[in-house]
Formats: sequence, C-alpha cells, structure tokens
Amino acid sequence: MTQAKASGAGLRILVSAGPTYEDIDPVRFIGNRSSGKMGFAVAEAAARSGARVVLVAGPVALPTPPGVTRLDVRSAAQMHEAVLGQLPADIYIGAAAVADFTPRQVAGSKIKKREGESGLTLDLVRTPDILAEVAGHAARPRLVVGFAAETDEVERYARDKLARKRLDLIAANRVGVAGSGFESDDNALTVYWTDGQRALGPAPKTVLAGQLLELILERLPAG
Ligand code: PMT
Repeated sequence: MTQAKASGAGLRILVSAGPTYEDIDPVRFIGNRSSGKMGFAVAEAAARSGARVVLVAGPVALPTPPGVTRLDVRSAAQMHEAVLGQLPADIYIGAAAVADFTPRQVAGSKIKKREGESGLTLDLVRTPDILAEVAGHAARPRLVVGFAAETDEVERYARDKLARKRLDLIAANRVGVAGSGFESDDNALTVYWTDGQRALGPAPKTVLAGQLLELILERLPAG
C-alpha cells in the first residue's frame, strides 16, 4: 500500500530561489552559479500539495511552475524587501543563493581601465540575512527552512547555520562537485533539525523537492 501524500491545502508557503546579482556598474555585477532549479522544483512541489505558493525568484531563465505566484527580483536588497513583504506565511523555504556581499556604491557609468593600473579594489558591504530575519520576525512562519551549500564539513556548517539562524530545518547540499548543488539537474540533500536528520537522494531535483516537501509538512507544528 502506498502512503497518502501529505497535503499543503490551506497553507501559504513562501519560497526563494535562484541567485542574486549585485551591480558594480551598468555593465558588471557579482553573481553566483545558482540556476534556480532546486527552488523552482520546491515551489512546484508545494503548489502540487495544494498550498498557496509565492516564489521570490532571482534572475533565472526558468518558466513559472503551474499554480505559483512569482515575484522577480535582481539583488539581495530586492529579495529581502520582497520576502519580508510577503509575510505572514505558514512556511518559509530559503533555497536562494543570496549574495553575502554587495558593492557599497554602484558606479553610475562604466568603470574604465586606466593605463598602468594592475588591479581594482571593490568596497563590499554585507547584505541583510533574509533567512535569519524571517526566523526572528514578529510574524515568524511556523516552520522556517534554510538551505546550506557547503564544499566540506557539511554537517558541522549546516548545524551551525541551523542554530545561529534559529531555523527549524536546514537542507544541506554539497557544492563544487559534479552531480549535486549548483546548476545540476540532480542533487542529494541531508536535512538536519535539532535532534534528527534525514538523507534524501541522490535524485533529480524534481523528485527531491517532493521528498523535502513531505518532510517539511510532516514536521510542521500544528497551527
Ligand atoms: O539553483 P540551483 O542551481 O538548482 O542550485 C541549488 C542551490 C545549490 C543554490 C540550493 O540547493 C542551495 O543550497 N541554496 C542555498 C545556497 C546558499 O546561499 O547557501 P548558504 O549556505 O550561503 O546560505 C545559507 C542560507 O541562508 C540559505 O538558505 C540562503 O538562502 C540564506 N541566506 C544567505 C545569505 C543572505 N544574505 N540571506 C539569506 O537568506
């Protein structure tokens, strides 16, 4: 007998996905390799579960999943404003790869190379930590789920983020290796919570997203 899928009916689920681009001047930016595939698959799985889903998406070339309301943003500052503007929600899932630093100032015109100059120093400032702010918000969702993209010591760094950002769950994936993390169609996740963990995959991101959503709905405290 197959187990019935958990239902998200009646829930409002907020998901972030994709990279952020931090402009340096009108032609250059700081970005990262997130394609949005993982977060979009999570949003699609959430909509399939019957939830009302809002997806805050960084700059990616992906179609909007069926039944999902999408808000497009570019920078970490815009993502911060869009996500906080969508609270309250029952669940927040932060799958976006938000830039940790942004140029202090955006140059109004293209920065030119000068004769004899050997380099360029950028003055960067920290971006707001969207996930930590959502977890500490007066309208905190009942479940706040982060992602952790790590190259090594995956469990140690993921558990550190779980505690420091006051999350309920964190889905850790290895980056910098083929077949998981950024850009790939496949991934493998280990989801951690204070007194437990569960390994999901390796599998296509579309399949993993469904399994992650099941786990999230299983661990959602009664509202
Ligand atoms: O988009 P794909 O190509 O499919 O790749 C998927 C993915 C690798 C991007 C995804 O699975 C993933 O791991 N997303 C999180 C990437 C990341 O930025 O991880 P982090 O360990 O640097 O950040 C930890 C958490 O804090 C994340 O939930 C992030 O959304 C959040 N954060 C980080 C910085 C910041 N200023 N605000 C945040 O909310």
